[in-house]
Amino acid sequence: MAAGTALPVTALPVPLSGRFKGSFAYFTIKDRLPQILTRTIDTLHRHKNEFFEEHGEKGVEAEKRAISFLSKLRNELQTDKPVTPLEDELPDTTLWNQYLDYQRNLSNGNGEPSWFQSPWLYVECYMYRRIHAALAQNPPIDNFDVFKEGKAQNFFESQGAIIALCTYFQELLKNIKDLDEKQLQEEFFKLLQVSLWGNKCDLSFSAGEDSSQKSSPLQCLEDMVPFILVNDMEKLWLLLKNAKNRKTDECKVRVDIILDNAGFELVSDFVVADFLLSSKLADEVHFRGKSIPWYVSDTTKNDFNWTIKQLQAANHMWMSRCGINWEGNLKKGVWVYHDHMFWTLPHDFSSMAEVAPDLYADLQKSNLLLFKGDLNYRKLTGDRKWEHTVPFHQALNKFHPAPLCSLRTLKSDTQVGLKPGQAEQIQASEPEWMISGKYGVVQFDPAL
Ligand code: F6P
Ligand code: MG
Repeated sequence: MAAGTALPVTALPVPLSGRFKGSFAYFTIKDRLPQILTRTIDTLHRHKNEFFEEHGEKGVEAEKRAISFLSKLRNELQTDKPVTPLEDELPDTTLWNQYLDYQRNLSNGNGEPSWFQSPWLYVECYMYRRIHAALAQNPPIDNFDVFKEGKAQNFFESQGAIIALCTYFQELLKNIKDLDEKQLQEEFFKLLQVSLWGNKCDLSFSAGEDSSQKSSPLQCLEDMVPFILVNDMEKLWLLLKNAKNRKTDECKVRVDIILDNAGFELVSDFVVADFLLSSKLADEVHFRGKSIPWYVSDTTKNDFNWTIKQLQAANHMWMSRCGINWEGNLKKGVWVYHDHMFWTLPHDFSSMAEVAPDLYADLQKSNLLLFKGDLNYRKLTGDRKWEHTVPFHQALNKFHPAPLCSLRTLKSDTQVGLKPGQAEQIQASEPEWMISGKYGVVQFDPAL
């Protein structure tokens, strides 16, 4: 992978940053990120006995070193120290350090990159990468996922909603062959909306506090339609239907889901993926996860496999049927899990073609890319102070590997592709509309 990026920086709006006092980025860096670090430290403390039982004194020493690394990190952040090069030797270290040089060389007059002065997206990603380093550099606890517990808790606390969704879905599968096109479309829209609102359940947003899905995910979908600010579901349907009609034996229809959070959201994504295969709208679904623990609740390979195992082993017929079917899809190769280090680099997606050409080329083979969640939206649009009416296609800044769609609840203050006056109208009654998670988008770009 190459590290550089040739963005026409001057033509783009400025990135969101903690230097804008009072902005959501500012409050995140000031309050929410230190809270996440404190919780991370507490989690390590709480596992001290477990480390001792598993690894003896060496485990406890590693835990102490990791904690002191994290305390230092928290102090650097809170006192707006310069961002320092990574000192570990992991596969992505060079790219991170080259990115720091790139930030240093930007002639934007903000001086040495630092927590509050640099782009929010960069420093927030950097914090998660440093959390990873705190563990990865400290064997024998180097494989410990500090966020695992919270992700599992979200899954268990969403049990009722997961049962409701799996039951609904298994009932649907019984008659799926008899559904006419209109009915199939209705079901597709329903499941897409469950997956959209499933994105409310992330743990980075709530700084690790409980954010599980408590109510039945299928009730109230109708009532929530007005909160979908851009609703391109019809366009998705047309694209999939056309792809199905055009397909030949050699040319399969492939959908990629760029995953976000584990827990309820992941189950809702699995249901969409199963629907695509069962309705024959797609032949293959490729899932893209994170290769290191990320933004508290993002899905790693372990979370992906763990979730399917939990479902399989569940004491509920429809939940376990889902788990068994999904394990079967993986074995048959019609579901494929991938990770790639690009997803946990600080770069936005407009530099993917240059930084990770292999990944870009792979995505080009897809018929449709579904990007889940807020962070993916920020990376799609560069996390910038866009005018709300700027077209989505323009904000993607030449990232057009294939037709793509973002399914995102708004949890950070950037949003494009709205109608003139739409943002102002909501802003007047709900100043927090971009950060409350109450609104969502299903925003499509045909990549033409
Ligand atoms: O720190 C905030 C944030 O980056 C927001 O963008 C969002 O609230 C959250 O973290 C991640 O959300 P998601 O899991 O939907 O990507
Ligand atoms: Mg997330």
